[in-house]
Amino acid sequence: MTVHFIGAGPGAPDLITLRGRDLIAACPVCLYAGSLVPDALLAHCPAGAKIINTARMSLDEIIDEIAAAHAAGQDVARLHSGDLSVWSAMGEQLRRLRALDIPYDVTPGVPSFAAAAAALGAELTLPEVVQSVVLTRTSGRATAMPESESLENFARTGATLAIHLSVHVLEKVITDLTPHYGADCPVAVVWRASWPDQRVVKATLGTLRTAIGEEMERTALILVGRAIGAEEFGESRLYAGDYDRRFRPVGTNPRFPETGE
Ligand SMILES: C[S@@+](CC[C@H](N)C(=O)[O-])C[C@H]1O[C@@H](n2cnc3c(N)ncnc32)[C@H](O)[C@@H]1O
Repeated sequence: MTVHFIGAGPGAPDLITLRGRDLIAACPVCLYAGSLVPDALLAHCPAGAKIINTARMSLDEIIDEIAAAHAAGQDVARLHSGDLSVWSAMGEQLRRLRALDIPYDVTPGVPSFAAAAAALGAELTLPEVVQSVVLTRTSGRATAMPESESLENFARTGATLAIHLSVHVLEKVITDLTPHYGADCPVAVVWRASWPDQRVVKATLGTLRTAIGEEMERTALILVGRAIGAEEFGESRLYAGDYDRRFRPVGTNPRFPETGE
């Protein structure tokens, strides 16, 4: 028996991995985080599967369901939105399972920041502009931010910021970031990336508030930085015609000569 933690992706039901889909189809028990996992994914569950929405359950209740499946020798598919490596509450579940000696594995998913960047058609790391992306959030009612991880501190780096769980404090995000990035810095807000009702607003830090209007639905990602919408950036050396590399030796004395294998 194994509990399979599966990244369900950002919303579109075909943005799950093949491995994730096949695991869902093989498990007689499926626990899913109902608020952001699309119902269409549950259609992959086998006939007669026990399907449980964990949105209203406590950690104890979730672990009790898993322990019951374990006692019955039934594999469990455990679905969380996006990828499991960020803001999934997987860590605390895995700790409980280790304590109970219940086996598990983890299948990654498409994270929401990647779906938001795709909606914009944007590369978040552009040569000579930005080479880092910070996945972050602001303090919430349930989770305080460590002091050193303030938006101001990340903003000092100039990296592209992908700010989660924060559209409801947009005013504060704008106030904290503007002194560092400038009011003309591009910003985009993507609501429900990859869902049928996806919405995108592109603006600058100075114009964002007006551009958004009253729309404040919570499932949104704020992307900030000079890479967004940039046209002035260098080309990657990787594809430069004169760049000698292992898979494309160039010149009379290439660094990695072809071996003919
Ligand atoms: C609890 S976190 C889950 C993050 C998820 N594990 C991931 O990999 O993206 C929920 C937050 O992620 C962001 N989010 C999740 N799905 C999204 C989507 N489809 N479009 C935009 N933002 C999304 C929002 O900021 C939302 O408040």
